[in-house]
Formats: sequence, structure tokens, C-alpha cells
Amino acid sequence: MRLDKFLCDCLGVTRKEATKLLKSGAIELNQKTVKSGSTKVSDQDSVCWQERELTLKGPRYIMLYKPEGFVCSHEDGFNHTAFVLLDEVRYDDLHFAGRLDVDTTGLVLITDDGQWSHRITSPKHKCSKTYLVELADPIQSHYATEIEQGILLRNEKEPTKPGVMEQIDLHTARLTISEGKYHQVKRMFAALGNKVEGLHRESIGAITLDQDLEPGEYRDLTEQEILSVWPRSKEHE
Ligand code: URA
Repeated sequence: MRLDKFLCDCLGVTRKEATKLLKSGAIELNQKTVKSGSTKVSDQDSVCWQERELTLKGPRYIMLYKPEGFVCSHEDGFNHTAFVLLDEVRYDDLHFAGRLDVDTTGLVLITDDGQWSHRITSPKHKCSKTYLVELADPIQSHYATEIEQGILLRNEKEPTKPGVMEQIDLHTARLTISEGKYHQVKRMFAALGNKVEGLHRESIGAITLDQDLEPGEYRDLTEQEILSVWPRSKEHE
């Protein structure tokens, strides 16, 4: 492939902009500055821009440990988008497969594969999400049964789908739900007369937040994790 085409694909720039970058001496091919767009690049070559190696990647599947203070959207005039935590040269084609609130921590999946993320976010597929919940007031014995039966949230017509709550200590619970309504966990406990003071997502379906990741760190998903959402046999369902 020509180097200028490679730069267009990796950086999302026009051919004219790629030529300008090359002319400015900003691009290195195998540790040497190259200025000609017609230079050929192959898989074995290393192309660098601003000390970052550029690669043409296939579909992306990433797990991020989202810290507090970042939003799961492209734009927010106030908070940083969680995308800035990724060391990606461009993230305009990536999206979050299910969002977390700015003050919620834990597992976020990021991809550029819309069909894959649909299986996580679409209510039809009932993908489970597990949260660790810190509550302001002591957990009441009736919570688990009410969550199992479904809770009518404020401004909703239908109760929530059955969920599972396991009490861990007086103020902490592990909750598994299969929907992703706006602020769902906070609204569920508000409907029960309590208040969520801390929320952390531990898993989505069979994908569990990697214990080796620190807040703000991420890694690519393994093939097994990718396929757990979308088994090959169901590819064209
Ligand atoms: N439910 C919430 O209320 N907030 C989240 O971030 C995720 C689920």
C-alpha cells in the first residue's frame, strides 16, 4: 500500500493532509523520516507519527477500567470522554457498548463493531450486567424479592425485568440485571427507598473486569471474550 493511503486510513486525514504531514517530516518509516507519499509500506514496516506506531487494525474490542470523572460519550463540555484514556490516534469510529455514569467505575466495553455491541445493549438479547453497589442506608430483607419480581421505576410504565441481588454486608450488594435503562441501578434503589453512594460494574455477560487492570487502564479482549458475546454459530442471527 502507498504510504499516503496508509496515513489516510490510520489517521482519518485526507490525501492532501497526509502529503502535508509527510512534507513536514513528521512521519518515520522504519526509524527514518520519509517524505514521499508513493513509498510502499507492507505489514513488516513500522510507521511512526508523534512517537506512536500506526497500525491498520481490524475490528476493535477493548475492555477499559473506567475511573470516576469520565463520561461514556464522545462529547461533554464539562468532563473528559473516557476515550482519552485510550492510546489511540483516532477514536471517532469507536463507541461504548453500554455506558456508565460519570461517577460509576468499572468495566466498559469499547468497539467499532456495531452488530457486536448491539448484542450487549439491545434488551432483546438480555445480556446480564453485574454491579457492586454501595448503599447509604442498610439493606432491607425485602430488597432481593422485590428485585426478583421487578421494580416500577419513576416515569416508567413497565417494571424492571427480574434481577438478582446478593447481600454482601450491611451496606453492600451485588446486583445482576439484564437491562440497561437510564440510571437503572440508582433508580431501582431509589424506588426501594435507599440511595446508591458507590457503583462499580464488575462484568458484562461472561466478560469480567480484569483484576490486573488499574483504573484508567485497558486491554484488548481475548478471542474467547469476543465470541462469548457473539458465538460464531449465531453470527447471522
Ligand atoms: N445504573 C446506573 O444507575 N448507573 C450506571 O452507571 C450503570 C447502571
